[in-house]
Amino acid sequence: MNKLKFSLIVAICENSGIGIKGDLPWHLKNELKHFSRTTKKVTDSNKKNVVIMGRKTYFGVPESKRPLPNRINIVLTRNPVPADYPDDVILCSSLENAMKMLEEKEELKSIIEKVWIVGGSEAYKEAMASPRCDRLYLTEVKAKFECDTFFPEIPSDFEEIPLDDDIASGIQEENGVQYVYKILQKRHNNTLNGGDKN
Ligand SMILES: NC(=O)c1ccc[n+]([C@@H]2O[C@H](COP(=O)([O-])OP(=O)(O)OC[C@H]3O[C@@H](n4cnc5c(N)ncnc54)[C@H](OP(=O)(O)O)[C@@H]3O)[C@@H](O)[C@H]2O)c1
Repeated sequence: MNKLKFSLIVAICENSGIGIKGDLPWHLKNELKHFSRTTKKVTDSNKKNVVIMGRKTYFGVPESKRPLPNRINIVLTRNPVPADYPDDVILCSSLENAMKMLEEKEELKSIIEKVWIVGGSEAYKEAMASPRCDRLYLTEVKAKFECDTFFPEIPSDFEEIPLDDDIASGIQEENGVQYVYKILQKRHNNTLNGGDKN
């Protein structure tokens, strides 16, 4: 059986920062729309995508906007407190447990199209090293921001590929901040999927 894969999506500034005080370091409305559109996009309208995130990322989303709508939300935590979350949020103790659960639960397996890792640092690091990793959807923010949370080093087995047709190319600008969308593909050495090329 082919193992379920995932992609990552992140916005990173020039000093590798992704967050500060539980929030994003910048206010880029269109970039947030890109995140929302990309993680919601399905080719089969009967299916949904999954977003997997660490506990701090989940609680960093404004209360009115979480769980992230139209997506299956999984929160990673080693100290699950179900009472802190609505019933439709799934809690998992590790990224691999989350992926196995998605592969094993028939009722989920049949309705899932894509799986997205949406932060924070630890989940991103583990995800990029995993043979399940497909792509990294990156927004390069062309400025330095004060941050307390940083993106791990991108391993050397990621290479840039052309953008999807629905993603804007070239320099984007909002509130005087420039940024660029990129997609990086992880190269695999054919150990997953029984030797399939990726
Ligand atoms: N720029 C971007 O694209 C972007 C994207 C996402 C987040 N952010 C920002 O990044 C910050 C949050 O990220 P963060 O790295 O500080 O925290 P985080 O990863 O969201 O949350 C950390 C917590 O999640 C749980 N966790 C994380 N990885 C786990 C794993 N592999 N297995 C089990 N539990 C795991 C643990 O929870 P317990 O302590 O409960 O065990 C851990 O304390 C915020 O500022 C947010 O706004 C930015």
